Amino acid sequence: MEDHSWLEKRRKVLELSENGTTILKIGGSVITDKNVELTARTQVIDRLAEEIQRTNTSNLIVVHGGGSFGHPAAQRNSIKDGLKDPSQLIGFAETHHFMTVLNGLVMDSLIMHNVPAVSVTPSSCIATENGRIRYFEDTPLKMLLKTRFLPVLYGDAVLDTKLGFTILSGDQLVSAIAMRFSATRIIMGVDVDGLCDVDPKKEKNAKMLPHLTLAELKKSQHGIGKSTVYDVTGGMLGKVAELVPAIEQGIPVTILNATKPNVVFKALNAERVEGTLIEKE
Ligand SMILES: Nc1ncnc2c1ncn2[C@@H]1O[C@H](COP(=O)(O)OP(=O)(O)OP(=O)(O)O)[C@@H](O)[C@H]1O
Ligand SMILES: [Mg+2]
Repeated sequence: MEDHSWLEKRRKVLELSENGTTILKIGGSVITDKNVELTARTQVIDRLAEEIQRTNTSNLIVVHGGGSFGHPAAQRNSIKDGLKDPSQLIGFAETHHFMTVLNGLVMDSLIMHNVPAVSVTPSSCIATENGRIRYFEDTPLKMLLKTRFLPVLYGDAVLDTKLGFTILSGDQLVSAIAMRFSATRIIMGVDVDGLCDVDPKKEKNAKMLPHLTLAELKKSQHGIGKSTVYDVTGGMLGKVAELVPAIEQGIPVTILNATKPNVVFKALNAERVEGTLIEKE
């Protein structure tokens, strides 16, 4: 009998990329060593760039996190709590700059792998109000996508109408973009195998949760922790909380381990991977 499975898979990928946008978050926990400030995992960045190139997916937006480039500087200068003292101005500038440095490494690698990636700086097109996105000039982003570029954004230090400034997490950005662009799916790459009943870095018997509905997610939230390292945006708990509105809109989220080779490739290719799938119902 003829094997149509390849064709079937190809059809699914085409359908996904033609019909809707995919948002891929590459966690700072993946592309940096969060224990050592300003330490990028360049080999991991290169591997992910190659995986993105290999999928040949159009209609993809990448958002990356801050890891040890964003969080320590943001924490040191209390950027998330807003502008309280002029001495923080240099801290804001530093936090934003470190993010552009990490973003530069990601862009270098994508472009070296022949991916037409273009960076979109969140602090230049987004302002928040009390930490929530209030203004978002997304015309260039829409045009980039339409022209078949791969837009790349990141968690950033942004201006805030009430606080002066704050931190906009990559996780909030993912959720907001997914809703604005009516994305068909969100893929969240982190440094653990998925969402577990308890933090797997603290509890070695943690159980991975392969599938959750929104109702089940809300019930299991007590076991979700922050992060074992610096994370000014609430680690896994903050991440999941940000994703809820997008899931409520019917956008499925997969949380997977992007430190493992080929996991992101397979997920982008609509193949089954180890991880946690969270759906509305
Ligand atoms: N129940 C849980 N299941 C899985 N991971 C959990 C859980 N509770 C806490 N965590 C922690 O969440 C961490 C991932 O979140 P974290 O914010 O550190 O990474 P990230 O979002 O990729 O980084 P960044 O914020 O820099 O982008 C994991 O390393 C894990 O230790
Ligand atoms: Mg985080």
